[in-house]
Amino acid sequence: MVRRRSQLIPWRVAGGVADEHANADQVVRETGWVFNNETGAALTLEDFVMSGNKEVNAYLRVFGMNEMNLEELSVLEIGSGIGRMTSRLTHRFGTVIAADVDATFLERCRETVAKHGVINRLRTAHVTDGHSVPLADNSVDAVFSYITLQHCSNADALSLTKESLRVAKPHGVVMLNYRTWVLADIFLQPTGALVRALWKTKVFGPWLAKQRVATRLGWQANRVSTSDVLDVIRHSGRPCNEIVLFHHPHRRRSLLAGITDRVIGGSGIQERVLPRANKSHWWLILRLGE
Ligand SMILES: C[S@@+](CC[C@H](N)C(=O)[O-])C[C@H]1O[C@@H](n2cnc3c(N)ncnc32)[C@H](O)[C@@H]1O
Repeated sequence: MVRRRSQLIPWRVAGGVADEHANADQVVRETGWVFNNETGAALTLEDFVMSGNKEVNAYLRVFGMNEMNLEELSVLEIGSGIGRMTSRLTHRFGTVIAADVDATFLERCRETVAKHGVINRLRTAHVTDGHSVPLADNSVDAVFSYITLQHCSNADALSLTKESLRVAKPHGVVMLNYRTWVLADIFLQPTGALVRALWKTKVFGPWLAKQRVATRLGWQANRVSTSDVLDVIRHSGRPCNEIVLFHHPHRRRSLLAGITDRVIGGSGIQERVLPRANKSHWWLILRLGE
């Protein structure tokens, strides 16, 4: 499967590196950059988790989650990695289900949460095929995913979007982060495809997948359009109370450009700016109805 789906290679390689080290600080020094882009010989698990704490708090606030009693709710985190954000999520939500394509990351995530989070609130779910979540329909109150769907194939990103809608309960909240096209993609997309092709080579590939610069080019496997995501919501048939698309203030072109049908599941679609968003990112915040 990995050889066919080259976008999964860096996660498997980083998972292998994570498996080699017993010391959590060492794991962060060796693989932490794949999660928060930070490098350095002095990095610690604590710093790593702090970066996730700040982001979780900020995003939950701007997405209106502070108005809910999160301690009574469950959240599925798609693409938890080694728990950078998961620890904080366990302080905020009553139950957290950390899901990832890499099983070693999930083991590390447990260790991270045991040290910095609330371990008895954590469950894990292995996304073995990269596109389906092993949870029942209508089983979680919220779904959260950050810098993950850009690393899947386009089809997997849309499938995980569909899965998020499937597992969310009525009145659940879906918070998903995607990457969209920017001018630099004229260079980034072809070089990324080249790196992914090289990852598949037997001798050179595993070495290359540990190199930060190349990996940063190769792992952005897709750009997801708002119209494709809105189609997934439309086809889910779920009633919607609110649909908001967030993007960076400097984005000139509307995320809704060319979209004529702007009511889905009974809700209009709003577009808002989010100053802390990455320029190439956008977020879907969807509040389901009954
Ligand atoms: C850049 S990391 C982000 C991790 C975490 N959200 C954070 O911000 O620290 C992307 C994560 O997504 C996971 N991932 C990549 N493709 C996936 C897929 N198809 N299904 C589930 N997880 C996936 C990777 O293993 C990795 O842990």
